[in-house]
Amino acid sequence: GKLKMFVDELPDMPRVHGFRSVHGVLKPISLQIGMFYTKWKFHKDLPPTPVFAYGTSRRSATVPGPTIEAVYGVDTYVTWRNHLPSSHILPLDLTISPAAPKHGGIPTVVHLHGGIHEPSSDGNADAWFTSGFKETGPKWTKTTMHYENMQQPGNMWYHDHAMGLTRVNLLAGLVGAYILRHDTVEAPLRLPTGKEFDRPLVVFDRSFRKDGSIYMNATGNNPSIHPQWQPEYFGDAIIVNGKAWPRLSVRRRRYRLRIINASNARFFRFFFSNGLDFVVVGSDSAYLSKPVTTKSVLLSPSEIVDVVVDFSESPSRTAVLANDAPYPYPGGDPVNEESGKVMKFIVNDEYEDDTWTMPEKLINYPSADVSNAVLTRYISMYEYVSDTDEPTHLYVNGLPYDAPVTETPISGTTEVWEVINLTEDNHPLHIHLGLFKVVEQTALLAAGLEEFKGCMTRCNDAVKCQISKYARGKKTAVTAHERGWKNVFKMMPGHVTRILVRFSYIHSNASYTFDPTQEPGYVYHCHVSMSFDVLKLVVGITKLVLN
Ligand code: C2O
Repeated sequence: GKLKMFVDELPDMPRVHGFRSVHGVLKPISLQIGMFYTKWKFHKDLPPTPVFAYGTSRRSATVPGPTIEAVYGVDTYVTWRNHLPSSHILPLDLTISPAAPKHGGIPTVVHLHGGIHEPSSDGNADAWFTSGFKETGPKWTKTTMHYENMQQPGNMWYHDHAMGLTRVNLLAGLVGAYILRHDTVEAPLRLPTGKEFDRPLVVFDRSFRKDGSIYMNATGNNPSIHPQWQPEYFGDAIIVNGKAWPRLSVRRRRYRLRIINASNARFFRFFFSNGLDFVVVGSDSAYLSKPVTTKSVLLSPSEIVDVVVDFSESPSRTAVLANDAPYPYPGGDPVNEESGKVMKFIVNDEYEDDTWTMPEKLINYPSADVSNAVLTRYISMYEYVSDTDEPTHLYVNGLPYDAPVTETPISGTTEVWEVINLTEDNHPLHIHLGLFKVVEQTALLAAGLEEFKGCMTRCNDAVKCQISKYARGKKTAVTAHERGWKNVFKMMPGHVTRILVRFSYIHSNASYTFDPTQEPGYVYHCHVSMSFDVLKLVVGITKLVLN
C-alpha cells in the first residue's frame, strides 16, 4: 500500500562542530567525516533502506549527513573518508564515462556548495578518491579540506561531486547541511535561534521498492547507447531530513527554517496549505538587506531559502507545507497527491510570548552595479543534437568539460554575465566561488531565433550573432526575495538572464587571492545537469581561474 503521510517526527540531524573553545577562544578542530554503507529508515512502515551516508562513525551516519556548524573566522578542516564497499547500491552506467578507478571501489569527492575557499578544497569532479584513498583522480591533491569561513554568515550544503557519479552518489544519500554563523552581526537581528527554533530542512524526492531499497529507473532513454542512463530523476516520496512527509509539533511563535533543495532534478514551489507567510531573510548563502514576505518560494535543485515562519498567525491547528511545481519544471506534469505535500506542522493551541522579533533591516552588503562592471561575458547554453547519441548534448559556451580555462576574472571586480539559455529547460546555474546578483531576465524574440541559434552553434559568438537584435522580448522582474547575493539561479528557457558576478568576499576587506595557475581551478555548471552525471558527456563546464 501507499505510505501514510505525516507519521514520522521530523528529525534534527546530528550537529558536528568544527571548533572548540580554548580559554574562551574558538579554535578549529580537525573533523573526520566518513561515508558509510548503512541502512536508514525513511518511513516507519518502510523496511530499512540501504544507503550511503555521511557520519562521524558508521553507527551515527545519517541521511542527510550531520549538520556542520562553523563560525566566522574560524577555519573548518575536514578529512572526508570513503569507507564505501566495492560496488554501488544503485545501477551505474559506464557508458557516461564516470570516474573509473583501475582497482575498483566507488569514487567520491565532497564539494561544499556556496563555500569560498581554495581550489584544492573545492571538490573538483576529478579530485575523487576511493576507499582508504587507495586510488585518487587526476586532480586530487590532499586528504584534508580547508574551509576558511571568512565569508558572510549563511547556509551552505555539502554533497558528492564525483565525475559521472554525482547522480547516483546523491541519490544514495551523500548530502548534508553546513551552517556558518557570525554572532557579532547576527545576534542583534534577534532571529529565532537554538535547536528548537532554528532548523535546517533538507528536502529531496525518492522512490522506494517494497523491500525499502531506493528505486531508480535503470532503463536508459536510449538503451542501445546508454543501457541505464536516465538523465532526470523524480521520486514520488518527498523526504525532509531523512523522513518521508514528516511532521513537527510547533509552538505558536516564530521559527527559522533553512530550506535546502537537495533533489537531483525536482523544483519545489513551496506554500502553506493554510495561507501562512514565509518571511524570507536569506537566499543561498547570504542574508537579504531586509526581510521579504511572500506566500510562495520557488527553489530549483541546490537553491537555499532561509525563512522565518510565524506560527502564531496560523489560522488552523495544522499547516501543511505543500508544493505545486510541475516536474520537470516548467513544462512537465503537475504534482500529484504525493509530490504535492512536503511535511505537516501541528500548531499548539496556546498562545505564548515570542522572544524573537522580526527586524526591519537585516544585513546590508555592498551592492553591485552594472555601471561599475569591468567587463561583459556572454555565457550560452544550447543543445547540440548528435545523430548517434541521445538525449541531446547541452553545452555551456559550446565547450566540453576538458576544454582549457576560458574565464579568468580578477578578484574584487564585478562582471556582467549575460546567460543565454537557448534550450527548452530551466537550468539552475551554479557558480563556484562567485556570488552574484540577478538583474533581470529578457525573453528572446521568436522571430529570427532559429537563425540566431544556428549562428551560435557555428561560432558561439553572441555579439557576432547579434544578440542585441534578439534580446528584446518581455522582461521578467526578479522576485523581491531573490534580489540578494546568490550562488545559484534559475535560467529561464528562451531568455537572457543578466547577472552581476563577483569573485571575492562581499563583506570583508580581505580579497581572494592565490596563484592563478593553481590547479584545479573552479567550475560553474547547471546543477540539474551536474546531477545527471553529464559533466563529461552532455554539459560543458568551463573552469574558472582567478587572475
Ligand atoms: Cu552544488 Cu558544483 O555543485
